[in-house]
Amino acid sequence: MTRKRLVIGNWKMYIESAESAKDFARVLKRKVRGISGVEVALAVPAPFIPVVSAMLESSAVRVGAQTVSGLSGAQTGGVSGAMVKTAGGTFALVGHSERRALGEDNVAVHGQLVAAASAGLVPVLCVGELERTEDGGHFSFIAEQIRSALSGAQSLAGKLVVAYEPVWAIGKHADSALTSAEVREMAIFIRKTLADVLDRKSALKVPVLYGGSVEPANAAALIAEGDIAGLLVGHASADVTSFVEIISACKK
Ligand code: 13P
Repeated sequence: MTRKRLVIGNWKMYIESAESAKDFARVLKRKVRGISGVEVALAVPAPFIPVVSAMLESSAVRVGAQTVSGLSGAQTGGVSGAMVKTAGGTFALVGHSERRALGEDNVAVHGQLVAAASAGLVPVLCVGELERTEDGGHFSFIAEQIRSALSGAQSLAGKLVVAYEPVWAIGKHADSALTSAEVREMAIFIRKTLADVLDRKSALKVPVLYGGSVEPANAAALIAEGDIAGLLVGHASADVTSFVEIISACKK
């Protein structure tokens, strides 16, 4: 049996009202009903998790958070994995580059990954280099992000998703995204790194996604030729028509 592909939309802060979030979810639910071979998920701003998950209750679309705190107690503004879970979330992005840019380092990301998993959420570990250099330093950079996030947390492998999002390719258009060949090369490297950190069998179970300027124009080629299990979509996921087009491109 071949595994379903996974398409996650990351709304970031593009959708700003509960009403728009609900309308989006209503349309998405109708459009993806009966779609085959692809699992759909939405990482929404924390305040919208309850309304969006209520709207999607009888649908297969999953709802999750864009980050969780690895801390507890006196943390003003923090949102824990348990809070996400009780609000209706089933997964959480951790280590997104836009969070790392605010100062969340590999140690913090490790804490968030463990916190998400401990609360019963599937952690979607985001990794990605800031730039590429001739000497291939981006490979060791990615390996270090994976190693430190999973250090001592190997037992969580069964529920993990890894999303490769090169920072320099985020927030642009399809023609600035990586080519399928570049995605494939990094996907193989990530699986090899996972096999070193976990073990080969567990590593093969971890879906590796690509994100960074995924749009309807490049989704089909990336999924067909990129050797990836799915896509993590930013700006194009905030428009329900383009998000549905991307999901349809991943159908089996
Ligand atoms: P874009 O699709 O807007 O490039 O964003 C990618 C991303 O950061 C998804 O998490």
